[in-house]
Amino acid sequence: MADIDLAETIAVARCPGPGWEDIVAADDIAPPSFIAEDRYRYLGSDALDARRYYDPAFFRAEVEKMWPNVWQFAARVEDMPEPGDYVTYENAGRSYLLVRQDDGSIRAFHNVCLHRGRKLKTDSGSADQFVCPFHGFAWNKDGSINNIPCRWDFGHLTDEKLQLPEASVALWGGYIFVRENPDGPTIEEFLAPLPAFFERWKHEECVTVAWVGKVVKANWKITMEAFMESYHAYVTHPQLMPFTGDANAAYHVLGEHVNVNYTPFGTISPHLDQHGLSEQWIVEEFVKYNGRSADNYDPDKDDFNIEVPGGLTARQALGAAMRETSARTFGGDYSGVSESELLDALVYNVFPNFAPWGGFMPNIVYRWRPWPDQDHCLMEVRVIARVPQGQPRPAGVPLHLLGEAENWSDAPELGVLGGVVDQDMTNMELTHDGLKCSKNQRVELGDYQEIRLRHFHQTLDHYLQQQGGDRDD
Ligand code: FES
Ligand SMILES: [Fe+2]
Repeated sequence: MADIDLAETIAVARCPGPGWEDIVAADDIAPPSFIAEDRYRYLGSDALDARRYYDPAFFRAEVEKMWPNVWQFAARVEDMPEPGDYVTYENAGRSYLLVRQDDGSIRAFHNVCLHRGRKLKTDSGSADQFVCPFHGFAWNKDGSINNIPCRWDFGHLTDEKLQLPEASVALWGGYIFVRENPDGPTIEEFLAPLPAFFERWKHEECVTVAWVGKVVKANWKITMEAFMESYHAYVTHPQLMPFTGDANAAYHVLGEHVNVNYTPFGTISPHLDQHGLSEQWIVEEFVKYNGRSADNYDPDKDDFNIEVPGGLTARQALGAAMRETSARTFGGDYSGVSESELLDALVYNVFPNFAPWGGFMPNIVYRWRPWPDQDHCLMEVRVIARVPQGQPRPAGVPLHLLGEAENWSDAPELGVLGGVVDQDMTNMELTHDGLKCSKNQRVELGDYQEIRLRHFHQTLDHYLQQQGGDRDD
C-alpha cells in the first residue's frame, strides 16, 4: 500500500509542546489504549480538486457509484420501537420505508407505489398497512400486497410482482443502517474497528434526547468537513479557547471507513498566552461554554460549582466532578472512568456521513446528506443519552427541523451547542460559493490536522473508481 510507505518515510510536524498523548497521560485515570496510542497515518499532500464539491457530474457519480454501496445510518431503534412503526429515510435519489415487523426485526422497502409511482409515505409514524393515497393500492408491513381497488383490472399483476423491493438492513449500537445493493461487507466489517471501541460506551443503551436538523446551502461534504477538524476552532469559536486544546488534538486513521479526532477539553489552547491563567479559570470557562459540561446534566444546576484543589489540574477536577455527577444522574459506577471519556471531544466519523461521539457523556451524533443536490444538504445533530438505571427506556424525541430563517441557537434543546453550530454555519455557504469562483480550483489540506478530510476523499475515490456495483437504473 502506497500510503503505508509514505507513513514510514515522512515525519509530519505536530504542534509544539505537549501533545494529546501527554495530556491524557497526566490525568488521574488513563483512557483505553486505543485512544491514547498514536494512530495517525500520512496519506499524501496533493491538493483536492474543488469541483468535487459542486460539479453536478461529480455528484451524479456519488449517487451512482458510492451511495448504493455503503451502509447508511438511516434511523435509531428508538425512532421505531413497536411493530408497525415506520420511518421514511430519503437520500441520494432514493426513498426508503423502514418498518418494524411483528417479530421485532426491521425491513427497509423502497417507498414507492408499484402502481404509478407515488411515494407511499412522507412521514414517520405507525401503521398496520401502507395504503397509497392516490388509488388505494395497499401493502402489509412485510411488503406483500394487501389490496388493490378494482383488482379485476390488474389481472396481469401477480402478488409476487407486487412485493415491494427491499434494501439490506443492519443494526449496530442502536443505529439502523440501510444499503441498497445486497453485496458488500457486513456492518461489523464496514464499521471496523468502531464496534470494538464502542463496547465501552454502549450506544445501544442510549436514547435520542435531542434531534435538530437544518438545510444548509452548501455541499454535504463541505458541511461535514467542518466537523472533522479542530483547526478552525481558534478563529471560528474563540470563546472555546480557554478550555480547549484545539491544536493539541489527535487525528487517527482507524480503518477503511473510520477516522477520529480527539480534542482535549479542560486545557488551555496553545494559541493563548498561558501566563497567569489559573486552573480554576479554565474550569469556569468550561462550565460556561462547553455544550456537554456536567452542569448541563446536573439536577441541581444552579448550585453546580467546581473548586480546583491546589495542585490539581482543571482536567482532574472536572473529571472527579463528572464521575460524581454521572453516577448520580445515570446510576452505575464511574469511579474507573478516564477524564478523557468524560470530558473530551472523541469525534468518530464513519464513511460517508455518520459521526458518533464516543465517551460516557451524552453523545453528539451528526449526519449529513445531500438535500437534494450538490448545492444543499440536510445536517442533523442528535444527542443520545444513557437511560438512568432502573427507569424504562423512553421513545426517542422526533426531529426538530429548523426553518430557513431559524438558527441552531433557536433550538433550546441544544443548549450552548446551538450557538457553536451557528458559528460553524457562517462558513458553509461562503465556502461553497468560494470554491465555485476559485481561480486555481485547488483545496489545500494540512498534513496532520486535516488528515481525516484526505482519508475521506481517498475512500470516496475508491468507491467512484470501482468497476460494477453501479446503481441498477
Ligand atoms: S399511484 Fe399508488 S395506487 Fe395509484
Ligand atoms: Fe466548529
